[in-house]
Amino acid sequence: MKKKVLALTLAAAMMASMAACSSGGNTSDTTQNNSGTEAAEVANKDKPLVWFNRQPSNSSTGELDMTALNFNENTYYVGFDANQGAELQGTMILDYVKANIDTIDRNGDGIIGYVLAIGDIGHNDSIARTRGVRAALGTAVETNGAINSDPVGSNADGSATAVKDGSLEVNGKTYIVRELASQEMKNSAGATWDAATAGNAIGTWASSFGDQIDIVASNNDGMGMSMFNAWSKTNKVPTFGYDANADAVAAIAEGYGGTISQHADVQAYLTLRVLRNALDGVDIDTGIGTEDDAGNVLSDDVYYYDESARSYYALNVAVTKDNYNDFTDSTKVYAPVSNQLDASAHPEKSVWLNIYNAADNFLSATYQPLLQNYDDLLNLKVEYIGGDGQTEANITNRLSNPSAYDAFAINMVKTDNAASYTALLNQ
Ligand code: BGC
Ligand code: CA
Repeated sequence: MKKKVLALTLAAAMMASMAACSSGGNTSDTTQNNSGTEAAEVANKDKPLVWFNRQPSNSSTGELDMTALNFNENTYYVGFDANQGAELQGTMILDYVKANIDTIDRNGDGIIGYVLAIGDIGHNDSIARTRGVRAALGTAVETNGAINSDPVGSNADGSATAVKDGSLEVNGKTYIVRELASQEMKNSAGATWDAATAGNAIGTWASSFGDQIDIVASNNDGMGMSMFNAWSKTNKVPTFGYDANADAVAAIAEGYGGTISQHADVQAYLTLRVLRNALDGVDIDTGIGTEDDAGNVLSDDVYYYDESARSYYALNVAVTKDNYNDFTDSTKVYAPVSNQLDASAHPEKSVWLNIYNAADNFLSATYQPLLQNYDDLLNLKVEYIGGDGQTEANITNRLSNPSAYDAFAINMVKTDNAASYTALLNQ
């Protein structure tokens, strides 16, 4: 009963504040206090929640964790289209090989050899990229109806079972394409997508394969740049990554082969925008597919929404020497959604947000700076927590008082572990 009365009081207060806005008046202190009170009254389990970058899913089968994605009616995932991006990455590498066929085979043995740095064997983005590269280069084999994405370790003679030798005909000549080596870049403490591990691996690979290596492929730019700086730049071996981090885009001028933009500028916006909309109690499409009161709107060539998975996916773009000048600042907000929201209609709210690994190049150098630009535009006060990339507990330990926040944005260490977070909100 008491709850009902409170709810009614709140509804009245909200109407009063809306009236104040529509009449163009300044928001009174009382309204701001009321909105503070309102936040405190919402149970943690009912607060808006967005998963981002690591989609709640089974890390062995890839099956989506629908319980986590439907945690409450204001739960969403924001990421990007992993398959479309992976296909682009594969095609980008294949196009490069074809365009440079006269020089690509460094030792002239008719075999185009490549090495592949894998980020996290249980991460759907990483799996998709490994598959995309293998599919484009003709080295993919199917296991149980899907392209095998297992690392091969070392495959000097082409006998590995997770891949096969591909065959490529260019200008009437047939080449063999071989995945000479691949491995998950996980450090001894358990952190995946580990750039330093990739920097060491390329040293090992270079000493055993030398000029058999014609291409270096990587599941991301963090690892790609580490290999480029350690070896491929001086040896002039094209290296391909993913993420369009600023340092990787700049390196294209120095021989880095190319990268893929996963439209982090759109993803970072969506991550905070879905929370903003849920907190405002407006249609979730506001400022996304439908223009908001400040003129923000996205066109459908940069994202799509899959309602059944409660997931927003940004679309990817290849970045090569032909267009890299347009991508040099990876932390710039996306112009169509760069308008400041009015603080009286969209009062400040507080958000707890974590990055699974403070040392992840993409998330720390590209994604978080973008989030920090958008939080101001959307009037969100975000507390950023950086994890160690190894254990969920390192992060959840720092969510001791969920009641102090209006909404949550979560980037898990492992995609299987959504319940470690939702348990804290259910308490
Ligand atoms: C990025 C990687 C990053 C990973 C972290 C991926 O989407 O491409 O660079 O390490 O997310 O989860
Ligand atoms: Ca060769």
